Amino acid sequence: MTVPPVHDRTVLVTGGAGFVGSHLVDALVEENEVRVLDDLSTGECTHVHDDATFIEGSVSDPSFRDRAMAGVDLVFHEAAIVDVPESVENPRGTHRVNLEASLDLLEDARREDARVVLASSAAIYGHPEALPVTESTVSEPTSPYGVQKLALDRYARVYAALYDLPTVALRYFNVYGPRQRGPYSGVISTFLEQAGAGQPITIEGDGEQTRDFVHVRDVVRANLLAATTEHVGEAYNVGTGDSTTIRELAETIRDATGADVPIVHREPREGDVRHSRADVSKARDRLGFEPTIDLESGIRDLAGRESLEGDVSSAIHDRRG
Ligand code: UD1
Repeated sequence: MTVPPVHDRTVLVTGGAGFVGSHLVDALVEENEVRVLDDLSTGECTHVHDDATFIEGSVSDPSFRDRAMAGVDLVFHEAAIVDVPESVENPRGTHRVNLEASLDLLEDARREDARVVLASSAAIYGHPEALPVTESTVSEPTSPYGVQKLALDRYARVYAALYDLPTVALRYFNVYGPRQRGPYSGVISTFLEQAGAGQPITIEGDGEQTRDFVHVRDVVRANLLAATTEHVGEAYNVGTGDSTTIRELAETIRDATGADVPIVHREPREGDVRHSRADVSKARDRLGFEPTIDLESGIRDLAGRESLEGDVSSAIHDRRG
Protein backbone atom coordinates (compact mmCIF):
# COMPACT_ATOMS: atom_id res chain seq x y z
CA MET A 1 0.00 0.00 0.00
CA THR A 2 1.47 3.33 -1.04
CA VAL A 3 0.52 6.14 1.24
CA PRO A 4 0.82 9.57 -0.35
CA PRO A 5 2.77 11.81 2.00
CA VAL A 6 1.00 14.41 4.09
CA HIS A 7 3.41 17.32 4.27
CA ASP A 8 3.73 21.04 4.93
CA ARG A 9 0.39 21.27 6.67
CA THR A 10 -0.73 22.59 10.00
CA VAL A 11 -2.33 19.57 11.56
CA LEU A 12 -4.33 19.12 14.74
CA VAL A 13 -4.62 15.69 16.34
CA THR A 14 -7.24 15.68 19.08
CA GLY A 15 -6.54 12.88 21.51
CA GLY A 16 -2.93 13.00 20.34
CA ALA A 17 -1.65 11.72 23.69
CA GLY A 18 -3.87 8.67 23.42
CA PHE A 19 -3.45 5.31 21.81
CA VAL A 20 -4.30 5.91 18.15
CA GLY A 21 -3.67 9.66 18.24
CA SER A 22 -0.09 9.45 19.49
CA HIS A 23 0.87 7.02 16.74
CA LEU A 24 -0.68 9.34 14.21
CA VAL A 25 1.33 12.27 15.57
CA ASP A 26 4.52 10.23 15.21
CA ALA A 27 3.72 9.59 11.56
CA LEU A 28 3.02 13.27 10.83
CA VAL A 29 5.43 15.25 12.91
CA GLU A 30 8.46 15.12 10.67
CA GLU A 31 6.88 16.85 7.70
CA ASN A 32 4.11 18.93 9.22
CA GLU A 33 3.46 21.36 11.99
CA VAL A 34 1.56 19.20 14.42
CA ARG A 35 -0.56 20.25 17.38
CA VAL A 36 -2.01 17.95 19.96
CA LEU A 37 -5.12 18.73 21.99
CA ASP A 38 -5.59 16.25 24.80
CA ASP A 39 -6.88 16.54 28.37
CA LEU A 40 -4.85 13.49 29.49
CA SER A 41 -7.99 11.82 30.82
CA THR A 42 -6.68 8.57 29.38
CA GLY A 43 -3.70 9.69 27.29
CA GLU A 44 -0.16 10.16 28.57
CA CYS A 45 1.98 13.19 27.89
CA THR A 46 5.06 10.95 27.54
CA HIS A 47 3.43 9.61 24.38
CA VAL A 48 3.32 13.03 22.74
CA HIS A 49 6.20 13.47 20.33
CA ASP A 50 8.64 16.20 21.40
CA ASP A 51 8.27 18.03 18.11
CA ALA A 52 4.51 18.45 18.44
CA THR A 53 2.94 21.42 20.19
CA PHE A 54 1.02 20.03 23.12
CA ILE A 55 -2.09 21.85 24.33
CA GLU A 56 -3.37 20.22 27.49
CA GLY A 57 -7.11 20.73 27.60
CA SER A 58 -10.44 19.29 26.68
CA VAL A 59 -11.91 19.35 23.21
CA SER A 60 -15.14 20.44 24.95
CA ASP A 61 -13.53 23.67 26.13
CA PRO A 62 -13.89 26.44 23.51
CA SER A 63 -10.82 28.35 24.67
CA PHE A 64 -8.53 25.35 24.16
CA ARG A 65 -10.27 24.39 20.96
CA ASP A 66 -9.94 27.90 19.54
CA ARG A 67 -6.22 27.88 20.19
CA ALA A 68 -5.80 24.43 18.75
CA MET A 69 -7.89 25.10 15.63
CA ALA A 70 -6.54 28.51 14.64
CA GLY A 71 -5.04 28.26 11.16
CA VAL A 72 -5.22 24.47 10.80
CA ASP A 73 -5.48 22.75 7.41
CA LEU A 74 -6.20 19.26 8.63
CA VAL A 75 -7.74 17.75 11.76
CA PHE A 76 -7.62 14.16 12.94
CA HIS A 77 -10.32 13.87 15.57
CA GLU A 78 -9.41 10.97 17.84
CA ALA A 79 -10.41 12.44 21.21
CA ALA A 80 -13.37 10.62 22.76
CA ILE A 81 -14.51 8.78 25.83
CA VAL A 82 -14.13 5.32 24.32
CA ASP A 83 -15.26 3.43 27.39
CA VAL A 84 -18.54 1.81 26.32
CA PRO A 85 -19.64 0.86 29.88
CA GLU A 86 -18.95 4.46 30.93
CA SER A 87 -21.33 5.63 28.19
CA VAL A 88 -23.98 3.29 29.60
CA GLU A 89 -23.46 4.74 33.09
CA ASN A 90 -23.25 8.31 31.92
CA PRO A 91 -24.92 8.87 28.55
CA ARG A 92 -25.22 12.62 28.97
CA GLY A 93 -21.60 13.22 30.00
CA THR A 94 -20.21 11.05 27.21
CA HIS A 95 -22.60 12.68 24.74
CA ARG A 96 -21.13 16.07 25.62
CA VAL A 97 -17.61 14.97 24.81
CA ASN A 98 -18.21 12.46 22.03
CA LEU A 99 -20.85 14.36 20.12
CA GLU A 100 -21.35 17.97 21.19
CA ALA A 101 -17.64 18.78 21.30
CA SER A 102 -17.20 16.97 17.98
CA LEU A 103 -19.93 19.06 16.42
CA ASP A 104 -18.24 22.21 17.72
CA LEU A 105 -15.04 20.97 16.14
CA LEU A 106 -16.79 20.49 12.79
CA GLU A 107 -18.07 24.07 13.05
CA ASP A 108 -14.54 25.30 13.76
CA ALA A 109 -13.30 23.31 10.78
CA ARG A 110 -15.87 25.05 8.60
CA ARG A 111 -14.53 28.38 9.75
CA GLU A 112 -10.96 27.31 9.06
CA ASP A 113 -11.83 25.43 5.90
CA ALA A 114 -9.95 22.43 7.26
CA ARG A 115 -10.30 18.80 6.26
CA VAL A 116 -11.52 16.57 9.09
CA VAL A 117 -10.76 12.88 9.40
CA LEU A 118 -12.65 11.49 12.33
CA ALA A 119 -12.71 8.31 14.35
CA SER A 120 -15.99 6.48 14.02
CA SER A 121 -16.46 2.95 15.27
CA ALA A 122 -17.76 -0.52 14.50
CA ALA A 123 -19.91 0.13 17.58
CA ILE A 124 -22.37 1.88 15.26
CA TYR A 125 -23.35 -1.51 13.80
CA GLY A 126 -24.39 -3.06 17.13
CA HIS A 127 -25.13 -6.76 16.59
CA PRO A 128 -24.73 -7.04 12.82
CA GLU A 129 -27.13 -9.38 11.09
CA ALA A 130 -24.69 -10.53 8.43
CA LEU A 131 -20.93 -10.72 8.13
CA PRO A 132 -18.68 -9.24 6.95
CA VAL A 133 -20.14 -5.85 7.75
CA THR A 134 -20.27 -3.39 4.87
CA GLU A 135 -20.68 0.35 5.28
CA SER A 136 -24.29 0.08 4.14
CA THR A 137 -25.18 -2.42 6.86
CA VAL A 138 -28.06 -1.09 8.92
CA SER A 139 -26.75 0.67 12.00
CA GLU A 140 -28.38 -0.38 15.24
CA PRO A 141 -26.02 0.70 17.99
CA THR A 142 -26.56 -0.96 21.34
CA SER A 143 -24.86 1.62 23.57
CA PRO A 144 -24.92 5.40 23.97
CA TYR A 145 -21.31 5.33 22.75
CA GLY A 146 -22.46 3.67 19.52
CA VAL A 147 -25.23 6.23 19.10
CA GLN A 148 -22.79 9.09 19.64
CA LYS A 149 -20.35 7.72 17.08
CA LEU A 150 -23.15 7.07 14.62
CA ALA A 151 -24.42 10.63 14.91
CA LEU A 152 -20.90 11.98 14.45
CA ASP A 153 -20.35 9.72 11.45
CA ARG A 154 -23.57 11.08 9.90
CA TYR A 155 -22.73 14.68 10.73
CA ALA A 156 -19.47 14.24 8.87
CA ARG A 157 -21.36 13.19 5.77
CA VAL A 158 -23.86 16.02 6.06
CA TYR A 159 -21.12 18.62 6.55
CA ALA A 160 -19.50 17.42 3.35
CA ALA A 161 -22.77 17.51 1.42
CA LEU A 162 -24.16 20.78 2.77
CA TYR A 163 -21.08 22.87 3.40
CA ASP A 164 -18.57 21.25 1.09
CA LEU A 165 -16.33 20.49 4.04
CA PRO A 166 -13.95 17.63 3.19
CA THR A 167 -14.66 15.04 5.88
CA VAL A 168 -13.89 11.35 6.13
CA ALA A 169 -15.20 9.02 8.86
CA LEU A 170 -13.17 5.93 9.65
CA ARG A 171 -15.06 3.14 11.37
CA TYR A 172 -12.45 1.41 13.48
CA PHE A 173 -12.90 -2.24 14.33
CA ASN A 174 -10.83 -3.71 17.20
CA VAL A 175 -7.63 -1.70 17.17
CA TYR A 176 -4.60 -3.04 19.05
CA GLY A 177 -0.93 -2.25 19.34
CA PRO A 178 1.70 -0.57 21.50
CA ARG A 179 0.59 2.04 24.07
CA GLN A 180 -2.84 0.51 24.50
CA ARG A 181 -3.16 0.63 28.24
CA GLY A 182 -5.57 1.37 31.02
CA PRO A 183 -8.70 -0.15 32.48
CA TYR A 184 -10.69 -0.03 29.21
CA SER A 185 -8.01 -1.00 26.84
CA GLY A 186 -9.09 -4.01 24.86
CA VAL A 187 -8.72 -7.73 25.14
CA ILE A 188 -5.26 -8.02 23.57
CA SER A 189 -3.57 -5.71 26.02
CA THR A 190 -5.48 -7.33 28.90
CA PHE A 191 -4.36 -10.83 27.88
CA LEU A 192 -0.78 -9.67 27.39
CA GLU A 193 -0.73 -8.08 30.81
CA GLN A 194 -2.18 -11.20 32.39
CA ALA A 195 0.35 -13.45 30.67
CA GLY A 196 3.18 -11.06 31.53
CA ALA A 197 2.20 -11.07 35.21
CA GLY A 198 1.97 -14.86 35.28
CA GLN A 199 -1.76 -14.69 35.89
CA PRO A 200 -4.50 -16.77 34.25
CA ILE A 201 -5.79 -15.50 30.91
CA THR A 202 -9.48 -14.82 31.48
CA ILE A 203 -11.90 -15.44 28.63
CA GLU A 204 -15.34 -13.96 29.10
CA GLY A 205 -17.90 -16.54 27.97
CA ASP A 206 -17.08 -19.54 25.80
CA GLY A 207 -14.39 -17.79 23.78
CA GLU A 208 -16.08 -18.59 20.48
CA GLN A 209 -16.97 -14.94 19.89
CA THR A 210 -14.94 -13.37 17.10
CA ARG A 211 -13.37 -10.00 16.38
CA ASP A 212 -11.55 -8.30 13.54
CA PHE A 213 -8.31 -7.06 15.11
CA VAL A 214 -6.49 -4.32 13.22
CA HIS A 215 -3.04 -3.07 14.13
CA VAL A 216 -2.70 0.58 15.04
CA ARG A 217 -0.06 1.08 12.36
CA ASP A 218 -2.58 0.05 9.72
CA VAL A 219 -5.09 2.40 11.31
CA VAL A 220 -2.56 5.22 11.00
CA ARG A 221 -2.14 4.38 7.31
CA ALA A 222 -5.90 4.53 6.81
CA ASN A 223 -5.89 7.98 8.40
CA LEU A 224 -3.09 9.22 6.15
CA LEU A 225 -4.94 7.94 3.09
CA ALA A 226 -8.10 9.67 4.30
CA ALA A 227 -6.12 12.90 4.62
CA THR A 228 -5.46 13.04 0.89
CA THR A 229 -8.30 11.13 -0.75
CA GLU A 230 -10.66 12.84 -3.12
CA HIS A 231 -13.42 10.49 -1.98
CA VAL A 232 -14.58 12.66 0.89
CA GLY A 233 -17.98 12.80 2.56
CA GLU A 234 -17.78 9.06 3.03
CA ALA A 235 -17.34 6.56 5.85
CA TYR A 236 -14.98 3.60 5.59
CA ASN A 237 -14.55 0.43 7.62
CA VAL A 238 -11.05 0.05 8.99
CA GLY A 239 -10.36 -3.55 9.86
CA THR A 240 -8.58 -6.46 8.19
CA GLY A 241 -11.47 -8.51 6.82
CA ASP A 242 -10.31 -11.47 8.95
CA SER A 243 -11.69 -12.57 12.26
CA THR A 244 -10.31 -14.53 15.17
CA THR A 245 -12.01 -16.23 18.10
CA ILE A 246 -11.14 -14.99 21.56
CA ARG A 247 -10.03 -18.53 22.42
CA GLU A 248 -7.54 -18.59 19.51
CA LEU A 249 -6.36 -15.18 20.63
CA ALA A 250 -5.75 -16.40 24.19
CA GLU A 251 -3.75 -19.35 22.86
CA THR A 252 -1.73 -17.19 20.46
CA ILE A 253 -0.85 -14.83 23.28
CA ARG A 254 0.10 -17.63 25.60
CA ASP A 255 2.36 -19.11 22.91
CA ALA A 256 3.90 -15.78 21.92
CA THR A 257 4.75 -14.84 25.50
CA GLY A 258 5.77 -18.36 26.49
CA ALA A 259 3.81 -17.82 29.71
CA ASP A 260 3.01 -20.92 31.68
CA VAL A 261 -0.48 -19.79 32.65
CA PRO A 262 -3.91 -21.39 32.42
CA ILE A 263 -6.67 -20.09 30.17
CA VAL A 264 -9.80 -19.78 32.27
CA HIS A 265 -13.41 -18.80 31.56
CA ARG A 266 -15.67 -16.47 33.42
CA GLU A 267 -19.14 -15.03 32.91
CA PRO A 268 -19.81 -13.66 29.42
CA ARG A 269 -20.03 -9.90 29.15
CA GLU A 270 -23.55 -8.58 29.14
CA GLY A 271 -24.61 -7.42 25.68
CA ASP A 272 -21.38 -8.71 24.12
CA VAL A 273 -21.34 -8.69 20.33
CA ARG A 274 -20.99 -12.30 19.17
CA HIS A 275 -19.24 -11.82 15.85
CA SER A 276 -17.63 -8.86 14.14
CA ARG A 277 -15.73 -8.69 10.88
CA ALA A 278 -15.24 -5.79 8.53
CA ASP A 279 -15.69 -5.78 4.80
CA VAL A 280 -12.85 -3.46 3.82
CA SER A 281 -13.45 -3.42 0.08
CA LYS A 282 -14.70 0.16 0.06
CA ALA A 283 -11.55 1.40 1.83
CA ARG A 284 -9.47 -0.77 -0.50
CA ASP A 285 -11.14 0.53 -3.67
CA ARG A 286 -11.50 4.19 -2.82
CA LEU A 287 -8.64 4.88 -0.40
CA GLY A 288 -6.18 2.25 -1.56
CA PHE A 289 -6.14 0.86 1.98
CA GLU A 290 -4.55 -2.53 2.52
CA PRO A 291 -4.07 -4.00 5.98
CA THR A 292 -0.45 -5.10 6.23
CA ILE A 293 0.04 -6.61 9.68
CA ASP A 294 -1.41 -10.01 10.43
CA LEU A 295 -2.52 -10.72 13.96
CA GLU A 296 0.15 -13.28 14.75
CA SER A 297 3.05 -11.03 13.85
CA GLY A 298 1.36 -8.08 15.56
CA ILE A 299 1.10 -10.09 18.75
CA ARG A 300 4.59 -11.56 18.54
CA ASP A 301 5.92 -8.06 18.18
CA LEU A 302 3.93 -6.81 21.16
CA ALA A 303 4.88 -9.78 23.29
CA GLY A 304 8.53 -8.97 22.61
CA ARG A 305 8.03 -5.37 23.60
CA GLU A 306 6.12 -6.19 26.76
CA SER A 307 9.15 -8.00 28.04
CA LEU A 308 11.36 -4.97 27.38
CA GLU A 309 12.02 -2.71 30.30
CA GLY A 310 11.66 1.03 29.95
CA ASP A 311 9.76 3.05 27.45
CA VAL A 312 8.29 0.45 25.19
CA SER A 313 6.49 2.89 22.94
CA SER A 314 9.51 4.98 22.03
CA ALA A 315 11.36 1.79 21.19
CA ILE A 316 8.65 1.09 18.65
CA HIS A 317 9.05 4.47 17.13
CA ASP A 318 12.80 4.07 16.86
CA ARG A 319 12.65 0.67 15.34
CA ARG A 320 9.82 1.24 12.93
CA GLY A 321 10.28 4.86 12.03
C1 UD1 B 1 -14.51 -2.86 20.85
C2 UD1 B 1 -14.07 -1.47 21.25
C3 UD1 B 1 -15.24 -0.60 21.49
C4 UD1 B 1 -16.17 -0.63 20.30
C5 UD1 B 1 -16.49 -2.04 19.87
C6 UD1 B 1 -17.18 -2.01 18.52
C7 UD1 B 1 -11.97 -1.73 22.43
C8 UD1 B 1 -11.29 -1.67 23.75
N1 UD1 B 1 -13.29 -1.56 22.46
O1 UD1 B 1 -15.24 -3.45 21.89
O2 UD1 B 1 -14.82 0.72 21.70
O3 UD1 B 1 -17.36 -0.02 20.69
O4 UD1 B 1 -15.30 -2.79 19.69
O5 UD1 B 1 -17.69 -3.24 18.18
O6 UD1 B 1 -11.36 -1.89 21.40
N2 UD1 B 1 -12.75 -10.29 26.55
C9 UD1 B 1 -12.36 -11.40 27.27
N3 UD1 B 1 -11.54 -11.21 28.35
C10 UD1 B 1 -11.09 -9.98 28.73
C11 UD1 B 1 -11.49 -8.85 27.97
C12 UD1 B 1 -12.32 -9.04 26.88
O7 UD1 B 1 -12.74 -12.52 26.95
O8 UD1 B 1 -10.34 -9.88 29.72
C13 UD1 B 1 -13.64 -10.49 25.38
C14 UD1 B 1 -14.91 -9.64 25.47
O9 UD1 B 1 -15.93 -10.27 26.20
C15 UD1 B 1 -15.26 -9.50 23.98
C16 UD1 B 1 -13.88 -9.52 23.28
O10 UD1 B 1 -12.96 -10.06 24.22
O11 UD1 B 1 -16.01 -10.60 23.55
C17 UD1 B 1 -13.40 -8.16 22.86
O12 UD1 B 1 -13.51 -7.26 23.94
P1 UD1 B 1 -12.88 -5.79 23.90
O13 UD1 B 1 -11.46 -5.84 23.56
O14 UD1 B 1 -13.28 -5.12 25.17
O15 UD1 B 1 -13.59 -5.10 22.65
P2 UD1 B 1 -15.11 -5.01 22.15
O16 UD1 B 1 -16.06 -5.37 23.21
O17 UD1 B 1 -15.17 -5.77 20.86
